[in-house]
Amino acid sequence: MSNQPLLWWRHGVVYQIYPRSFMDSNGDGIGDLRGITKKMDYLSNTLGIDAIWLSPFYKSPMDDFGYDVADYCDVDPIFGTLADFDALITAAHAQNLKVIVDFVPNHSSDQHQWFIESRSSRDNPKRDWYTWRDAKPDGSPPNNWLAVFGGSAWEWDEKTQQYYLHSFLPSQPDLNWRNPEVKAAMFEAMRFWMRRGVDGFRVDVAHYLMKDPDLRDNPLVDAVILAENTKSLGGYDSQQHLYDKGHSDNHELYRQFRGVLDEFEAISPRYSVGEIHIFDWEEWATYYGAGDELHMPFNFGLIYAKWKANVVRDVVESVERVLTKPGQWPNYVFSNHDEHRISSRYGADAARSIMMVLLTLRGTPTMYYGDELGMKDVSIPPEKVQDPWELRVPGANLGRDPERTPMQWDATPNAGFSPAGVETWLPIGEDYSTVNVEAELQDARSMLNMTRALLRLRRGSEALLNGSYRTAVGTPEEVYAYVREASSERYLILINFAADERTVSLPELASGQVVISTLMDRDDKTGGSLKLRPNEGCVVRF
Ligand code: NOJ
Repeated sequence: MSNQPLLWWRHGVVYQIYPRSFMDSNGDGIGDLRGITKKMDYLSNTLGIDAIWLSPFYKSPMDDFGYDVADYCDVDPIFGTLADFDALITAAHAQNLKVIVDFVPNHSSDQHQWFIESRSSRDNPKRDWYTWRDAKPDGSPPNNWLAVFGGSAWEWDEKTQQYYLHSFLPSQPDLNWRNPEVKAAMFEAMRFWMRRGVDGFRVDVAHYLMKDPDLRDNPLVDAVILAENTKSLGGYDSQQHLYDKGHSDNHELYRQFRGVLDEFEAISPRYSVGEIHIFDWEEWATYYGAGDELHMPFNFGLIYAKWKANVVRDVVESVERVLTKPGQWPNYVFSNHDEHRISSRYGADAARSIMMVLLTLRGTPTMYYGDELGMKDVSIPPEKVQDPWELRVPGANLGRDPERTPMQWDATPNAGFSPAGVETWLPIGEDYSTVNVEAELQDARSMLNMTRALLRLRRGSEALLNGSYRTAVGTPEEVYAYVREASSERYLILINFAADERTVSLPELASGQVVISTLMDRDDKTGGSLKLRPNEGCVVRF
């Protein structure tokens, strides 16, 4: 389906900012809100994205770097103040940028006042705001559920002699969304931010909210399937997570959640995107509801896909096939604060092609800060590791620090992120003297200039913004090609996944013209065929 009414969240490009690592305005080695505001012109004019998504900046003890919220309606002093946030929104809107904030509904911090009250006694009015259960007669936890970050999902509370549920760290107790007071309080937090001008929410682990009300044990995964799993989350993957997340009651909850967003729709269109790791596309698509639940569930198909032509094409075709109802708009993402950098996963050449694919497929692209430069994972010495996941499940390559390092702005010490001499919270990438905004702006063929060119092309193109998608058939095995078409224009995008040349002959190439190559060095006309160099991607207008 193409030709949806133009709307910022459907046609704009979302750029994820990890606030700790974008720009440090006060020289403490940690990024902050004022830093982001300072860089608004880069985002809007130099780069040319349409919306920013801010990972959490709320009051937090930072056990999970902000995904452990101690106050849903306040800014942590590390990041600034509510006034700084208001200034950020004003600056963003003045540049026509939308602002999406993270919403972390599944769990709070154990330092949240609600949990402090809840754990104070069994008869506290907030007791039921979290999930508390007695031990089994032998003293063990109420069921076999595991925490994503390692160990049991249940933590014993000495004082009140019960266990509480936590899907992540013990200091991230799960809120009980079956309690209407919890729902009301959390919906009120959403209104709080929308009144301040927030345009939408990225919902953390959106399908975890509703669990099996009977708290049944999860069945175990077959050992063979477990051995074949490519991204092992350690012990957590040994279970089929049938009962600790993904309950069908989530759908009613998201209809109500959407109702809260819709209260503000008359002022300006709002958006929600849920972090939902579901790879059965039919089930995944149920989170759109009938256009009345989440605006989109994040599509993580390409984050975990092997970088091979047929694999990428299959993901895109599966998503295109399943999204048949009105309002079901696709989206794509290749990287975020939980996954290794694309340049490190697939190499620098592939990272360029990935950017081309991301910005030319049909649907909303979400890109991760620094990917426009080709920033790589940074190796973190053991004594500098910050990520609680790495610390709790060491040696399993689960650490997320490497992809969260400071943005590389220029070639000065600390890459222009923090003043020289300051120790930044995570080390700066060693390649910062060449991989940085300032240097790449000077280099016509840089990854940054390629990304800018793609963003410019996309912004002015009816076909790329709103046109149809079809796979072009008849290409060599290692080439993925597709057509984006609107009444006024047509593009053929060709990506060579091979490490050597491939010649493509397609009818669409009869009289076309290369408008962007990932190598940023050609604008030749095509006469029936096109020679793609190793790992090259091209956008051809025809
Ligand atoms: C998903 C977030 O993306 C991740 O960074 C966080 O650690 C967990 N949820 C827990 O909130």
